[in-house]
Amino acid sequence: MKKNIRDLELSNKKVLIRCDFNVPMKNGEIRDDNRIVTSIPTIKYALEQNAKIILFSHLGKVKEEADLEKNNLRPVATRLSELLGKEVTFVSVTRGEELENAVNNMNVGDIILVQNTRYEDLDGKKESKNDEELASYWASLGDVFVNDAFGTLHRAHASNSGLASKLPSGIGFLVEKELTELSRLDNPEKPFVLILGGSKVADKIGVIENLVTKADYILIGGGMAFTFLKASGINTAKSVIDEESLEFAKKMVEMYPEKIILPTDVNAFVEFNNDADNRYVSVNELNENEMGLDIGPNTVEKFTNILSSAKIVFWNGPLGVYEFEKCTEGSKKILEYLVNNNIPTILGGGDIVAAATDLGYKEKVTHASTGGGATLEYMEGKDLPGLTSIPERN
Ligand code: 3PG
Repeated sequence: MKKNIRDLELSNKKVLIRCDFNVPMKNGEIRDDNRIVTSIPTIKYALEQNAKIILFSHLGKVKEEADLEKNNLRPVATRLSELLGKEVTFVSVTRGEELENAVNNMNVGDIILVQNTRYEDLDGKKESKNDEELASYWASLGDVFVNDAFGTLHRAHASNSGLASKLPSGIGFLVEKELTELSRLDNPEKPFVLILGGSKVADKIGVIENLVTKADYILIGGGMAFTFLKASGINTAKSVIDEESLEFAKKMVEMYPEKIILPTDVNAFVEFNNDADNRYVSVNELNENEMGLDIGPNTVEKFTNILSSAKIVFWNGPLGVYEFEKCTEGSKKILEYLVNNNIPTILGGGDIVAAATDLGYKEKVTHASTGGGATLEYMEGKDLPGLTSIPERN
């Protein structure tokens, strides 16, 4: 078991906490503050322990000068301060006098949020390549390190793995909670049903390969279903196909015909546009000018019949283009069924969690993971560098 924040001496210490504040932003405004909200328990605990708190996070990717302003972390400091009911000092740089002075002048109970760690990527990708000098510099600002950035555990960056290698370290409450919830899927109760959606099969190959023997059923919807339907010999007309993954899909439907469950009907559109003409149609009867953008009612029934006996469900990726008002029905009906029937359900991946939030089910499912890539890599059975860098408890 990994060391956690309770194992560390925090009183009067400068505590560096890596959060994942990589929140969706539009025109400088936060569109979903879930990752900020879920960081609060760790920050509050450190406050109760009389720590001086220095927070780090990345936001988006910083490849060129133009990325700096749009990925400025300042709005997060404002939102965090509102949520905590307490001042959070934002330091607009990732190194130098402004940061060092702010840190040196801290009192117990003060909170600083340091600028987006990926500002350091402009100069030779120092953050993303876990630059030794950068990690040492950041480590010199504090006494202990807490990694609470679950969504970033699959990265080996200076602000997570680097800091953990240089300071006494432990995981925070969010990482602990996520690992506890996801570990239910290590040896899942049976029947274990996997629901996969989203458009690209390629992103899910690792998960399918790792879980195909463990899962009793894999229900496939979303854009990726059409690659599997085509692989089964169905004319998918204008529906999106992940050509590169066609061979993989063929292999899967041939090897696991009873396990891989595909849509039988879809909501078909003549254009990729919510306002275009649409109709529910059997997958065998798509016109050449149509594309399927959501699962249909017969598929919902087929999926819920299978889910009725499920003891646990892991779901990644929406079953339709959930951004389109006319294409939320499939995901909504399945979420509703799982919640109404108290079927333990873990949602993993940004899009399905965003869809569940919009549809009002996020708080009703068993667990909605804050991780995207990190959750998928966990499900693929991979080591997560942000976690392996934290020492085990003695
Ligand atoms: C995420 O949103 O999945 C994490 O914050 C990691 O972000 P990244 O894919 O840009 O490294």
